[in-house]
Amino acid sequence: MMIDFHQPVSCKERLMFFYNFLQAPGQVGSITPSSRALAKQMMEPIDWARADTIVELGAGTGVFTKWIDELKRPDAKLVSFEKEDKMRNRLELFYPGVLFHEDAVELVRVLDGAGLDKADAIISGLPFANFPQALRDQIMDQVYAALKPGGVFVAFQYSLQMKRQLQSVFSDVSVKLVPFNVPPAFVYVCRKEVDKQGADALAW
Ligand SMILES: C[S@@+](CC[C@H](N)C(=O)[O-])C[C@H]1O[C@@H](n2cnc3c(N)ncnc32)[C@H](O)[C@@H]1O
Repeated sequence: MMIDFHQPVSCKERLMFFYNFLQAPGQVGSITPSSRALAKQMMEPIDWARADTIVELGAGTGVFTKWIDELKRPDAKLVSFEKEDKMRNRLELFYPGVLFHEDAVELVRVLDGAGLDKADAIISGLPFANFPQALRDQIMDQVYAALKPGGVFVAFQYSLQMKRQLQSVFSDVSVKLVPFNVPPAFVYVCRKEVDKQGADALAW
């Protein structure tokens, strides 16, 4: 499928997203898909030439999926999680080469089950701020365990609420504001230390 990065999100996608927001506001977390400006900023920290395994959490209508599918090497693997059935089923039709799964809490089990290496990059659209603390902890444990040493976790949020938790998990965390998004968003770029290989092997 040809990707036109300048093509705006269609009305149908916006309506679908909004409908899902009305059904489950806490889970969906915003009224409209992310902007192109935010998508670009989310893709920027990733070394696309080297990434073998890429994970997306909270694909929604696929704003980031489209970019990832275009930027990744053809032989690299993308595993994408979206909890809402209709949005996930629609993406499955558009991206037959992508492995889609339902719930981000299954991340480690899914990668393991698919016989994939740990992820070079995990790109998250999950609305962590709406989740209970126990679910945030559960998903962050999965993210850390599923990420390669030296790998990068890129997440956007509409507040700085997650900053402290991310700094407690990753020693290298940077935050950038993207104003051209509804609402304006913060992009967190978190890198996993390279020297934790031994500890990871035990946790995997
Ligand atoms: C703020 S939207 C982001 C959608 C898209 N990435 C974007 O930027 O437009 C968050 C998405 O995460 C999904 N989601 C929430 N909890 C999830 C979970 N535990 N596992 C997978 N997806 C989840 C929601 O259904 C929703 O589509």
